[in-house]
Amino acid sequence: MTEAPQKAPYTTSNTGIPVESDEHSLTVGPDGPILLQDHYLIEKMAQFNRERVPERVVHAKGSGAYGFFEVTNDVSQFTKADLFQPGRRTDMLARFSTVAGEQGSPDTWRDPRGFALKFYTDHGNYDLVGNNTPVFFVRDTIKFQDFIRSQKRRPDNGLRDHDMQWDFWTLSPESAHQVTWLMGDRGIPKSYRHMNGYSSHTYMWINGGGERFWVKYHFKTDQGIDFLTQSEADELAGSDPDLHRRDLFDAIAGGNAPSWTLKVQIMPFEDAADYRFNPFDLTKVWPHGDYPLIEVGRMTLDQNPEDYFIHIEQAAFEPSNMVPGVGPSPDKMLLGRLFSYPDTHRYRIGPNYAQLPPNRPRSPVNSYAKDGPMRYAPSEAARPYAPNSYGGPEAEFTGRFGDPAGWETAGEMVREATKRHAEDDDWGQPGTMVRQVLDDAARERLVSNVSGHLLDGVSRPVLDRAVQYWRNIDKGVGDRIAAKVNGG
Ligand code: NDP
Ligand code: HEM
Repeated sequence: MTEAPQKAPYTTSNTGIPVESDEHSLTVGPDGPILLQDHYLIEKMAQFNRERVPERVVHAKGSGAYGFFEVTNDVSQFTKADLFQPGRRTDMLARFSTVAGEQGSPDTWRDPRGFALKFYTDHGNYDLVGNNTPVFFVRDTIKFQDFIRSQKRRPDNGLRDHDMQWDFWTLSPESAHQVTWLMGDRGIPKSYRHMNGYSSHTYMWINGGGERFWVKYHFKTDQGIDFLTQSEADELAGSDPDLHRRDLFDAIAGGNAPSWTLKVQIMPFEDAADYRFNPFDLTKVWPHGDYPLIEVGRMTLDQNPEDYFIHIEQAAFEPSNMVPGVGPSPDKMLLGRLFSYPDTHRYRIGPNYAQLPPNRPRSPVNSYAKDGPMRYAPSEAARPYAPNSYGGPEAEFTGRFGDPAGWETAGEMVREATKRHAEDDDWGQPGTMVRQVLDDAARERLVSNVSGHLLDGVSRPVLDRAVQYWRNIDKGVGDRIAAKVNGG
């Protein structure tokens, strides 16, 4: 038997005043002009006009959920970070996304997927803002904006354009590893639940004795890796554009909480100087044979947000949120990102974004920040300056609970490519992937995905450069792509 609906509470204005009607505006006679004194109508229209914050300039379309991270192995010899200590369980938020599409774009477009995590630790928020790929298209922050513009829309016709994409990629050979990854099966995951997440960057870990290590994070999906073929994805882009958002929401709502096992690769601090690959180059992985995976714990997403806009749209992830026991590395991409994210949040959400529910730390905040639009929590310090004699917070002279400041550095100021190590080149690691990781069927899908993409609007001479680009990665795969795009 269905229950009779409850009588709804009466409507109020935003300030709690009972309103007279949600059906009729206040007019002079039934057909008369609308009156400016209908404050409720004005409030309703004005509120509606301001409903959107700007969408993220990249990673605009996404989905997210809350959950927790549990430690399953003792890695305290490598880091003293609170959330990685034995027995710890830490609440967290995750947001997954596509990169280049807008808010309403289909979930099944070929694109890397964002894998952004926020851990509410006892020492403040720790954000790990990674992707579902272990590498990236460029290795210097100064190229990121150009890269993204090549993937977005053309200024004259407002269309996305494969010619721009391949033009940029073929003029930037460091993109080859990530492009190979993107054009392979993992470029379109079956759902957000069926993909891995990677820190991609190398970070520093610091243990309780002040010893430093280099670390890469790998979140392996416990649901198993799965993907969509290009033709499945194309069909779904039209018939079910929000597939991945619904999949995540429904899985959690149905009690089928997805989880990922965190493993790390650890490199002793001193190895970095002459490791065969530059360990801070974001276009390279550390082969597992060199630095095997060590289990750390498991993250589980078991709680849908009660309001998508508040918790996911206004979530502000920032790689600069690093807690004691974790630090940056000399990766030039990472160092640029430390500025970029808080800056975009101040623009996109407002300077007090850290007070909003998804961003608010669950540990004490003792900052000297004050005022600014939309601030609602009082300033924590009785006197808004340091030092003061009224009991204001004092910074630890030793830095972040005794962490060493970073790494040794000296030299002239230069604009130069990052240092090449013995086996560094742009084609080697993607070539290994094509020849040793993919099987025949996966290689065939790669050739078909690339040639289909190239045949969709790429002009010469970009097309010729693209064929050469693939021959540099792997002669056989390049020849097969050449045959398809040149009509051979
Ligand atoms: P391994 O054989 O130890 O690892 C190969 C890796 O490739 C596994 O992590 C596997 O992930 C992943 N993989 C399998 N299929 C695909 C695909 N279609 N697209 C992308 N990744 C895939 O070899 P190495 O560590 O020596 O690395 C060899 C090559 O593998 C590298 O040059 C790189 O291109 C690629 N790779 C390496 C990673 C690393 O961190 N070392 C991570 C991902 C890719 P899974 O275990 O989940 O199946
Ligand atoms: C989002 C900048 C590289 C992962 C963003 C946003 C900006 C940005 C401005 C929008 C943030 C927002 O509005 O909330 C940059 C710059 C980069 C860079 C300048 C290079 C220098 C990377 C790399 C990764 C990455 C290498 C992954 C390893 C993400 C993710 C998001 C994002 C996951 C979405 C976060 C969310 O879900 O809210 N990036 N990015 N970015 N970026 Fe980057």
